[in-house]
Amino acid sequence: MAKIAIVTGATGGIGREFVKQISAGEGLDEIWAVGRNESKLNELSSEFESVVPVVADLTSDGVDVIRRLLEQKKPDVKLLINNAGVAYMGLFEDMDNDEIARFCKVNCEAPARLMNAVLPYMHEGGRIINMSSASSFQPNPYMSMYSASKIYLKNLSRAVNIELKPRGITVTSSCPGWVDTDLLPRSKDGKEIHYTGMISAERVVSGALKDSAKGKEMSVPGFFSKYFRLYSKFTPTYIVMRMWSKAVRKYV
Ligand SMILES: NC(=O)c1ccc[n+]([C@@H]2O[C@H](COP(=O)([O-])OP(=O)(O)OC[C@H]3O[C@@H](n4cnc5c(N)ncnc54)[C@H](OP(=O)(O)O)[C@@H]3O)[C@@H](O)[C@H]2O)c1
Repeated sequence: MAKIAIVTGATGGIGREFVKQISAGEGLDEIWAVGRNESKLNELSSEFESVVPVVADLTSDGVDVIRRLLEQKKPDVKLLINNAGVAYMGLFEDMDNDEIARFCKVNCEAPARLMNAVLPYMHEGGRIINMSSASSFQPNPYMSMYSASKIYLKNLSRAVNIELKPRGITVTSSCPGWVDTDLLPRSKDGKEIHYTGMISAERVVSGALKDSAKGKEMSVPGFFSKYFRLYSKFTPTYIVMRMWSKAVRKYV
């Protein structure tokens, strides 16, 4: 039985780094690299021998594509990395219905359905890492759908982690602050956007893999997100949201 990892959003900044670190250190037969961009996936498979490209759009039948592959190949899934995600900074009222649906599908529905699809193929020692965010520590005005989706994913992960304890499977939420990838716009109307405490994808991924191997339910990499987590825990939410709004409003 092939021992595999599944990484969604494998063509993006953090996903690619997951593929790189898993192929170097986890001793797996295959890494199913999931994304929509076929040429980027093919580049990944020529760079990393164990990569199997899986072209799948998580807003349409992407999860079913993966489910069918699982049924065909019946692998031993050692690692599932629910990493694909979309982001938006701006007013909620400026989002249209399609954009709201895209958020729900990629950031919420797909990871939940994928965990569910993969569990019959996971055994003791299996690990799931779900890419949440420091945006899950409180509601974020001007990134309202994003932070709501990350709160959902973190809470789902923590609850399922408890349910899976008897099976020896762990679910870890990775909650970084700003990460240096193409997800983040670099300027707004010619104004450079400053991302406090931004860290590299490499640091996020090495932290998430280590914390998941230790069976931790949360991985909070970097000083900024650790500080933000404590600050959000001990400060009234309306004050945290007011401070956040002050910092972000000028970019919207
Ligand atoms: N960057 C940050 O500051 C930051 C901070 C905290 C958490 N995160 C989270 O980390 C994860 C990865 O983010 P990143 O920074 O690496 O972003 P990124 O470079 O923009 O990558 C996003 C990935 O998601 C995939 N994706 C988007 N829509 C998809 C769809 N409909 N179907 C399938 N795949 C889709 C993209 O693949 P294709 O376009 O090839 O389909 C891409 O590989 C996200 O969940 C994000 O919310 C990021």
